[in-house]
Amino acid sequence: MATSLIGRQLALHLQKNLWLGAPGCRYVSKAAAKAEVEFDYDGPSMKTTVPGPRSQALTKQLGDIQNVGAVNFFCNYEESRGNYLVDVDGNRMLDVYTQISSIPIGYNHPALLKLMTNPNNLSTFVNRPALGILPPENFPDKLTESLLSIAPSGMSRVQTMACGSCSNENAYKAMFIWYRNKERGQSGPSAEDISSCMVNQGPGCPDLSILSFTGAFHGRTLGCLATTHSKVIHKLDVPSFDWPIAPFPRLQYPLEEFSRENAQEEARCLEEVEDLIVKWRQKGKPVAGIVIEPIQAEGGDNHASADFFIRLRRIAAKHGCAFHVDEVQTGGGCTGKFWAHEHWGSDDPADIVSFSKKLLTGGYYHKEALQADKPYRIFNTWMGDPSKNLFLCEVLNVIRRENLLEEVARSGKALINGLYELQAQYPGLLSRARGQGTFCAIDVRDDATRDKILVKTRDKGVILGGCGDRSIRFRPALVFKEYHVHLFLNIFNDVLTQFK
Ligand SMILES: Cc1ncc(COP(=O)(O)O)c(C=O)c1O
Repeated sequence: MATSLIGRQLALHLQKNLWLGAPGCRYVSKAAAKAEVEFDYDGPSMKTTVPGPRSQALTKQLGDIQNVGAVNFFCNYEESRGNYLVDVDGNRMLDVYTQISSIPIGYNHPALLKLMTNPNNLSTFVNRPALGILPPENFPDKLTESLLSIAPSGMSRVQTMACGSCSNENAYKAMFIWYRNKERGQSGPSAEDISSCMVNQGPGCPDLSILSFTGAFHGRTLGCLATTHSKVIHKLDVPSFDWPIAPFPRLQYPLEEFSRENAQEEARCLEEVEDLIVKWRQKGKPVAGIVIEPIQAEGGDNHASADFFIRLRRIAAKHGCAFHVDEVQTGGGCTGKFWAHEHWGSDDPADIVSFSKKLLTGGYYHKEALQADKPYRIFNTWMGDPSKNLFLCEVLNVIRRENLLEEVARSGKALINGLYELQAQYPGLLSRARGQGTFCAIDVRDDATRDKILVKTRDKGVILGGCGDRSIRFRPALVFKEYHVHLFLNIFNDVLTQFK
């Protein structure tokens, strides 16, 4: 009875959400092909400035309960569809930021809604298990079908977690455990290890470190925060570890014009990495692991060459440090490959690769050696959520069926070419257009102008994100087609003319 009721409601919801009734958008360039995303709207539609009156009232209401300083506006997720996010004031916006890069195939994708109508899936949605102790029967199969089917080269083990920070935090623990076990060899922990760890002292709580990079963002939990260096607001007033921080290359654009300078810059950073590893060992705080994003996202979309990463991975191996690639933001197809590190062309890219966001569940892949040796060392109550694996299986089906990685490569090319054109058109305003796939960014002359552009673009029906000091980042879903790129570029151009 309950099952059929839920089924009926979902069927109605599906019908409503599959409706394609939006009028055409006046900003569409003549060159743009028609929208091909079957469940998409065909353009933005704005009724108020954003946040509109209903959003403002709700922000006030929520403000009595929580800090609402970061709330942009309130959303109507029922009406949102495909590449379009609808707000509570009825504004429909092309979403080129997708919930901080975490919506893989658009809003209310029919394939995902359909999963909810399958009675066989209901118990997975209703009963969230303590996965580490009581996993469901289909859990190994679902992991194989979803996460293992896209495992990075050389990795056949995966640990699911909740969010990105939780994934990195546990990946760091795995690196520390691995490092100490390596040091101890065959002998287990000493009596001193065991007694000292309970009072936060060495040798049980060893003075090991993780090397990270300037501008990095790996999350906001205590361990992750010690490796995050993107913004003061994340760090202020929170105690941290004395861990080494190496410079991340600051590349000059266009890359073809500055290849010599950029190679020198990368060599300088790598040299500094080795120096820091040696220094920290001498300080009695050996580096157990190196963590890096393939493209620094929150810190300003900073890129480095494949050669830089491959050489860094070699340095890690040479000094006995684990190499952790944080693909929380870059993973899931937005660079045109499933993992950004695939662009390096290495068949041994890392010891650990963490993920979250577009993968819908958090977690990390790891080499066999980084498997914790005992239960409960890497553990929490939920250890992920099997319902997210169901969704992920379907997301992967859609990506494969619709060749979405090829689409991303195509749209990414149109996007970066459009950004190059705009930066040529507005030289005092825009610079350093860069990107891989649709994972693109451009710099604005200063942060105040960047922030104004973001607001004005949103009022014209496009949601973008900021990153670093003065960059705009583009993080559309994988169903963002060339048509949407042209739609966006036209609107963006309209806004930019006001800032000339
Ligand atoms: C590269 C990277 N690592 C880690 C995180 C933290 O993820 P979460 O916000 O889910 O904790 C983020 C979040 O933006 C990220 O971009």
